[in-house]
Amino acid sequence: MQLEKQEMLESGEAWSERFAGLEPIVKYNNITKSFGDLEVIKGVDLELYPGEKIAMIGPSGSGKTTLGRLLMTLEEPTSGTIELDGELLWHTEDKGKLIRAGEKHLHRMRGKVGMIFQHFNLFPHMNVLRNVTMAPRSVLGLSKEEAHDRAVTMLRKVGLEEKLDVYPSQLSGGQKQRVAIARALVMQPKVMVFDEVTSALDPELVGEVLEVIREIADEGEMAMLLITHEMEFARDVADRVIFGAEGRIVEQGTPEQIFENCQSERLQSFLGRFVGAASNP
Ligand SMILES: Nc1ncnc2c1ncn2[C@@H]1O[C@H](COP(=O)(O)OP(=O)(O)O)[C@@H](O)[C@H]1O
Ligand SMILES: [Mg+2]
Repeated sequence: MQLEKQEMLESGEAWSERFAGLEPIVKYNNITKSFGDLEVIKGVDLELYPGEKIAMIGPSGSGKTTLGRLLMTLEEPTSGTIELDGELLWHTEDKGKLIRAGEKHLHRMRGKVGMIFQHFNLFPHMNVLRNVTMAPRSVLGLSKEEAHDRAVTMLRKVGLEEKLDVYPSQLSGGQKQRVAIARALVMQPKVMVFDEVTSALDPELVGEVLEVIREIADEGEMAMLLITHEMEFARDVADRVIFGAEGRIVEQGTPEQIFENCQSERLQSFLGRFVGAASNP
């Protein structure tokens, strides 16, 4: 039976028909996260389907980065569970009870997720090729040749196969961010989190990075969580847009629903800040 979208939402089924019947690749179950007394994630339920592209928008400080870092195992949830690729991420079961997973489990699960940050953290003393081959060699144990071949493929994909021998200091911000994307792709993650990857770039360099992300998105199979302030990009690329504020998901929908027919005043006022932004940066 075909459920209406609203019914799907309410019943927790796949949010879009395209993903109906698939198991989510990521599932946040009533996640909270506090830093000391400050609760920054206040009970988030979120499913991401294989191949689905979610754009996450919202004001600064609303917890977007923290949600990504929880999946990347850089932060531990205060309560709730996260499922990744059919397994619990932070927990294992022991005699019917959930206990915190050990480092070995976390390490294995971490390999399923790639995250790219606002500030490219390339290793400055390594050339482009070594930046990209390092993790496949040390974490996946690939041979030098295998890692090299994979790295070259990914650097070609981001348009930088000419820059293998170059050091990060000789690259533009846009090129550095493209290396960072290649470095994440080379690990062949099932899910990629892009955390405001163009926010630190000069405006003229934003386009080349978004173009690369768009191409990766078009290939289809990888699930992507795109935290972004680039509204046009979100509208073009995302299957679903999520608006978060103060640690909660306030509203979600198709790009059309969110950008043309939003329901909450909060989202309306947030989006109002971007009107005219494209023509007047
Ligand atoms: N390591 C940390 N220690 C204390 N507070 C933090 C830490 N990381 C994030 N926060 C706080 O959590 C809130 C959410 O941050 P963040 O997830 O970075 O939001 P966003 O990415 O939406 O801007 C902010 O108030 C931020 O100051
Ligand atoms: Mg952030």
